[in-house]
Parts: sequence; structure tokens; C-alpha cells
Amino acid sequence: MSRHMRSALLLLGLFALPALAMDDEPRFSAGWGFDQRSGPALYAAICAGCHMPDGRGARGAAAYPALAGNARLAATPYLLRMILKGGKAMPAFGSVLDDGQVGAVAGEVLRRFGPPGQSAVAITNDEVAAMRAAIQQEQRSQAP
Ligand code: HEC
Repeated sequence: MSRHMRSALLLLGLFALPALAMDDEPRFSAGWGFDQRSGPALYAAICAGCHMPDGRGARGAAAYPALAGNARLAATPYLLRMILKGGKAMPAFGSVLDDGQVGAVAGEVLRRFGPPGQSAVAITNDEVAAMRAAIQQEQRSQAP
């Protein structure tokens, strides 16, 4: 098994365990999170396992899209939404990262992999909080 698959499986295991112990909300046990606060440390601890340290992505149990050169990074809200809410085979990190951590890791992704115009964008806690609120609102209106 390749190194990235092992780390991806390890991460998935970490996410699956607390989920098994809970009924529905919250999805993660309180108090479980990441200590890292800087963008580079958060990227290395979380994102690199699937998207690779150099952002080129990978193919394994799932397709992990490249972040390097990804035109979708031109839209900061899209990046924030992916981090907070996840996607098909990407876990949501909204409940394990605070606003500052989300902004830091998003800023790191933009700085390293984003289009030239985005590389110096600083993401404020307000932007992250606004995206959290928008996602919560959507989830509330989707509830039966
Ligand atoms: C467990 C593996 C995994 C981890 C960890 C992970 N991702 Fe992902 N990511 C994926 C997969 C799989 C997709 C594709 C999801 C889909 O198709 O909906 C994805 C999609 C994305 C996309 C959208 C790419 C596109 O072209 O649409 C962005 C942006 C992204 N991830 C950023 C991050 C960041 C930033 C982190 C760290 C905070 C991270 N991911 C952590 C697996 C992961």
C-alpha cells in the first residue's frame, strides 16, 4: 500500500471512530481537533495525506484532485466550502477546525497553489464564519 493511501486510511479511521459513537449531531466528539495553527502545519497534518505535500493530488481508493494549478481556487468561497463541508470522498473539517485554522490552511493553499492573483489573499475569520453560517442555513433548509 502506498504511503498516501496509508495516511488517507488512517485519517478516515480517525473520522469514522467518533462518528460510530454518536447518534447524529454532532458528528465528531467534542474536544477532538487539531492543535496546529499555522497554514503550513495544518496543510501538512491534514490535506497533504490526500492531496500530497506538493498538491499534485493522487489516485488510490478515490481520486484526490490536484490543488496545484487548480483553476477552482480562483474562488475563495469554493475553497472554504470544501474545507468546512467536504465533498464526496473528502471529509468535512468544519467541526474540527476553528475559523482561524480554516483561514490559515485556506491561505496556505492559495499561497502555494492558487492562481497568481490569489496568492497574497488573507482570509478573515469573518469570511470563514459567514461561510459556516451559509452552510448551516442550507443544511437547516434541507432537513425534513
Ligand atoms: C481523506 C482525504 C482528503 C483530505 C484529508 C482532504 N481532501 Fe480535499 N478532497 C478529497 C477528495 C476525494 C476530493 C474530491 C471531492 C469531490 O469530488 O467532491 C477533494 C476535493 C478538494 C477540493 C476541490 C477540488 C476541485 O477541483 O473541485 C479542494 C479545494 C480541497 N479538496 C481542499 C482540501 C484541503 C484544503 C484540505 C485540508 C484542509 C483537504 N482538501 C483535505 C480528499 C481529501
